[in-house]
Amino acid sequence: MLQHGPNGSGAGFEFSFLGLWHPLFSRFYTPACTSLFRVLKRKGSSAVHSLPSLCPGLASAATAAPGIQFPFFFPPKVFRGMTMCTALPQTVRASQGTEEHLMERNVGDLLNLYNPNDPLDHAWTIPSPWYFDPDIHELEQQSVFAKTWQVVGRADQVRENGDFFTADLAGEPIVVVRGEDGQLRAFYNVCRHHAAAVVTEPQGRAKQFRCPYHGWTYGIDGALKGMVEFEGVCNFERAKNGLVPVMVDTWETFVYVNLDGRAARLRDFLGAIPEIVAPLQLTKKLKYFDRRIYTLHCNWKVYVDNYLDGGYHVPHAHKGLSSVIEYTKYTIENFERACLQSSPLSSDAKSQSGVAATRQGRAFYLWIYPNFMINAYEGVMDTNLVLPLGVDKCAVVFDYYFANVSKKALKKNQASIKVSERVQDEDEAICDAVQRGLGSRAYVAGRLSVRREAGEHLFHRLLHADLTRALNRPAAAD
Ligand code: FES
Ligand SMILES: [Fe+2]
Repeated sequence: MLQHGPNGSGAGFEFSFLGLWHPLFSRFYTPACTSLFRVLKRKGSSAVHSLPSLCPGLASAATAAPGIQFPFFFPPKVFRGMTMCTALPQTVRASQGTEEHLMERNVGDLLNLYNPNDPLDHAWTIPSPWYFDPDIHELEQQSVFAKTWQVVGRADQVRENGDFFTADLAGEPIVVVRGEDGQLRAFYNVCRHHAAAVVTEPQGRAKQFRCPYHGWTYGIDGALKGMVEFEGVCNFERAKNGLVPVMVDTWETFVYVNLDGRAARLRDFLGAIPEIVAPLQLTKKLKYFDRRIYTLHCNWKVYVDNYLDGGYHVPHAHKGLSSVIEYTKYTIENFERACLQSSPLSSDAKSQSGVAATRQGRAFYLWIYPNFMINAYEGVMDTNLVLPLGVDKCAVVFDYYFANVSKKALKKNQASIKVSERVQDEDEAICDAVQRGLGSRAYVAGRLSVRREAGEHLFHRLLHADLTRALNRPAAAD
């Protein structure tokens, strides 16, 4: 790898001088900056004035554009300026001319700022633009959230025939329903007439669905049953106008759907995970108790990164939780698409009593790519589902489960949730601050702790693989 040392090129020297020298640039900045510059210049963007002097490829362009002043770093605004002109959906871009191909390459350049082949001890985090770039966000929606198995609900919500719940996945309205034949099905919750949401309640039980707009009815198997005042319409086949199905499956107590009709089965996606989880007997031992939803002002990946830092932040950000976690015995194990963090819990005199009373046995923190976490202690579990709401906003859905959900255990369960809420508040403050820092011109990427941050490394590599695969697909078809 070509590296600019502190005494290397002028670019390296400038970075070194400010303590901001960054080998990522020496590898990738030239093509990225060159195409970026072209786009910005064409758009007349003021961001062009922030282009860095780090790009040798821009030396001639700089002299051709009087008045440009180059700071020493690669400010996020440059990336933001670039992505303003690349906000078209992938499908639209793919069908257009050469200018759009240039734009596509720019998204690719952002992806290329990350090198997935670096081993952990050489690795950098994914670069900061990935956390605020609208195109990366859109690409994630299409190539990660619309392609992977996603948890949308719990099996207990659809236990009886006719039970249904609605969900939103990658911007798509979904309804999951158990049919009269006992089979679990999922559909796009979009009427085949004029696209209204057919099911408007978050959950319930039904014998059929009636669209609230013009009254079309569908069976809970998705078949179109009746259309009001639709006689005389030619070339319309009712049988071909049922609700559009979506792949659905369950594992443990979780209902998963996948918007990609060609996706591998859930079992294949989960790989070794069921085996890891089986000894906990979650479904057998624990029952759903309550839900909390938090809205964070950060990119969804900030929350996942925070989860996957191997307990690194626990002694600093979570003093209460830290009092029971045996930090030095904390283990981190990566699987194909999952990371298991685990730690024995102590209950010695120094442990905070509220925490020690509700966190016993061994902590078990399992992350499943890309956005689902299972946190289990003895008799206690919560799951976290991280949902992107925009480039710098996400929701985290906490579902709480306990071994005993009777009235007798109410106080203890509520106390356990209180502990979790405190931890979540602490994480929220950190995540919001990290999002602000990621937008700073002082930061592009950071290094990873070999002892602690292997999970984050796995997450970044998986994400890079999905995003680059998706971006290369239309290009390959040209
Ligand atoms: S949109 Fe559903 S009946 Fe018209
Ligand atoms: Fe935390």
